[in-house]
Amino acid sequence: MTNETAPKTARLSLGDQEIELPVMVGAEGEMAIDIRKLRAQTGAVTFDPGLGNTGACTSNITFLDGEKGILRHAGYPIEELANQSSFLEVMWLLLHQELPLKTELDSFTHDITHHTMMHEDLKRLFASLPKAGHPMAVCAAAVGALSTFYQKEGPKTPEQNWIDAIRLLAKMPTIAAYCYKHSIGQPLMYPRNDLSYAANLLYMMFGTPCEAYEPNPVTARALDLLLILHADHEQNCSTSTVRTVGSSGANLFSSVSAGISALWGPLHGGANQAVIEMLMSIRDGERSAREFMELAKQKDSGVRLMGFGHRVYKNYDPRAKILKSACDDVLGQLGKRDPLLDIAQELEQIALEDSYFVERKLYPNVDFYSGIIYKALGIPTDMFTVFFAIGRMPGWISQWLEFQADPDKRITRPRQIYTGATPRSYQKVEGR
Ligand code: SDX
Repeated sequence: MTNETAPKTARLSLGDQEIELPVMVGAEGEMAIDIRKLRAQTGAVTFDPGLGNTGACTSNITFLDGEKGILRHAGYPIEELANQSSFLEVMWLLLHQELPLKTELDSFTHDITHHTMMHEDLKRLFASLPKAGHPMAVCAAAVGALSTFYQKEGPKTPEQNWIDAIRLLAKMPTIAAYCYKHSIGQPLMYPRNDLSYAANLLYMMFGTPCEAYEPNPVTARALDLLLILHADHEQNCSTSTVRTVGSSGANLFSSVSAGISALWGPLHGGANQAVIEMLMSIRDGERSAREFMELAKQKDSGVRLMGFGHRVYKNYDPRAKILKSACDDVLGQLGKRDPLLDIAQELEQIALEDSYFVERKLYPNVDFYSGIIYKALGIPTDMFTVFFAIGRMPGWISQWLEFQADPDKRITRPRQIYTGATPRSYQKVEGR
């Protein structure tokens, strides 16, 4: 559909009213009915729990075509970025919607590298929390607490928001590694400015003060790929949360802290941890793959095929395709084998041949294979969603900045359909 071929308006007949609503057409031909004047003209609102049919914004950052399994960042296919780019370059692409010039990339890399250290007072926050606390809760707290070190009365300027973005992108790996080190009682490792972004994260995670530690380049490249694949995904639950919190005028750190909390849910980013736990339960004989799949089809079983299904993709998630192939590469290069990969592929094969999954267009999503690679890199299972958050950080920030720059921005405040009690008078407790 194009602006030329799409209808200019949609006609709505409501009782004795007949109104025309403008039709918007996106850069890739997607159509939207502009209902901004609907309530004023008809007194009615629309009803769309989960917002699966509702566009909340326009955006120049990421495009998904769920039917065709397409993901592009500012026009660049995820397959090309995964194979040829780097996470820092993709960060710049999301933030500017253009690939960086060499000079821009060098200067951006310098800025990110020189903001990785954390204020020494913030380290005490980690020490004050239980070692067994889930790292997503610790990360959300730490990112929210960053706003206390960079606070300012009143709204920040675009320049101040930009430096906050640099700080957040740079410090998130340090925060993540500090979460992990605190949970295992090891000393926190300071970042190293001579390492790449992914290698530095691995160094802070697995290095110790007792001996030299040089991250394996294969592991660092695999991690950089994982971060690229998680970088942005248009208006998913956590990103729309970041936009919503930012719409009230809250600062970037507070908005992203809320996004981390939203990502933690098992239906969203928490699924990558749930997938590995699901595969382990099958590996350890709790039930066979086929028995598991039969349960996953029964609504009241409380069992879901984690890592499968997607609100937008009704085809194979392009990121899952890349991750599935990367599993073999990374395990091979590291000389590892993992029976969980065989189980994952068995589950996928069963699903692709089962009408329950085929009819509902349930395919592997980004979380189905990512955990196999995280595990091969030595990342502990309860840190998987934290690594998702590190990858998603440039997406959250770019979408938040895009909202702040929107001249028509408004606070997010959906309506509802009230279905509760109708007017009645108060009665004293004695008379009830
Ligand atoms: C991410 O939005 C994004 O872009 C997210 C993300 C990103 O990059 O930000 O891509 C990352 O969050 C990926 C999704 C990770 N979550 C999981 O893997 C959890 C398992 N999947 C689901 O619970 C589910 O598929 C969702 C939450 C992902 C999508 O839910 P929807 O769109 O609300 O779909 P639904 O729950 O209405 O399901 C439709 C039908 C239902 O059956 P019927 O009512 O038609 O009989 O499909 C069934 C569901 O019961 N179904 C599943 C299933 N997913 C959906 N049945 C078994 N196993 C599943 N995984």
